[in-house]
Amino acid sequence: MEAVQGAGVVVTGAGGGIGAALARRFAAEGARVVVNDLDADKARAVAEETGGIALPGDASAIVPEARDALGGTVDIWCANAGVGTGGSEAADEDEWERAWDVNVMAHVRAARALLPDWLDRGSGRFVATVSAAGLLTMIGAAPYSVTKHGAYAFAEWLSLTYRHRGIKVHAICPQGVRTDMLDASGSAGDLVLKPTAIEPEDVADALFKGIAEDRFLILPHPEVAGFYQARAADPERWLTTMNRLQRTWEDIR
Ligand SMILES: NC(=O)c1ccc[n+]([C@@H]2O[C@H](COP(=O)([O-])OP(=O)(O)OC[C@H]3O[C@@H](n4cnc5c(N)ncnc54)[C@H](O)[C@@H]3O)[C@@H](O)[C@H]2O)c1
Repeated sequence: MEAVQGAGVVVTGAGGGIGAALARRFAAEGARVVVNDLDADKARAVAEETGGIALPGDASAIVPEARDALGGTVDIWCANAGVGTGGSEAADEDEWERAWDVNVMAHVRAARALLPDWLDRGSGRFVATVSAAGLLTMIGAAPYSVTKHGAYAFAEWLSLTYRHRGIKVHAICPQGVRTDMLDASGSAGDLVLKPTAIEPEDVADALFKGIAEDRFLILPHPEVAGFYQARAADPERWLTTMNRLQRTWEDIR
């Protein structure tokens, strides 16, 4: 793919799961890939496997190092690192803080560091791994649902603000994907996500299709489009349906 061949790509949270699948796919398409993860061993293993460059650390603070590693220019940034913080309004303050920090502010900080150069050059691509929870919600996971709405809102804002200046933005919004995060999602994940879960490679396929079609919203589970429309068309009905799901979950957990 022309947009990817030879491009300098950074994937955050790429030590496993969806990020590793994105790194593998970008490498297979001829990109030069920086593999970031908080877990240094995992980042190194994926970098070795893909012929990429390992850059361990917090996704919030790695733009300068990533740019140096790619010889001065980042062409594509995949803001993929995320935390699946569950719980209700009663979740600890530091859990809410961490969800905001990783799921939203890491995207904002990366964009802040990347945009000046991208706007000068008139090109750049920002890929946000959001979630269907950013368009809909996830039962039993208030911090995750709220911060993924924030991630979606930020990606949307970036796209509408800079699309006439050569900046491409994609928001990937899958439901369940078979990764460590899904395994850790407990009985709510078992009920809502696992029955229709897909592989991380399917998410990479959906992104590449979206890049080829120049689409902002990437839905690896196409049925999410219908749920999103139903929510917007009739919020009361949608909430009643979701509450039924909540009560089913309360009965089984
Ligand atoms: N698995 C799913 O069902 C699913 C569904 C929708 C969206 N997502 C989103 O996909 C993204 C990837 O999740 P996954 O399912 O592959 O999970 P995962 O837990 O397998 O991978 C996430 C990776 O991010 C890393 N990470 C966490 N915080 C980081 C930070 N601050 N800096 C750098 N790395 C960090 C972790 O070490 C881990 O390797 C997340 O944003 C997640 O919210 C996942």
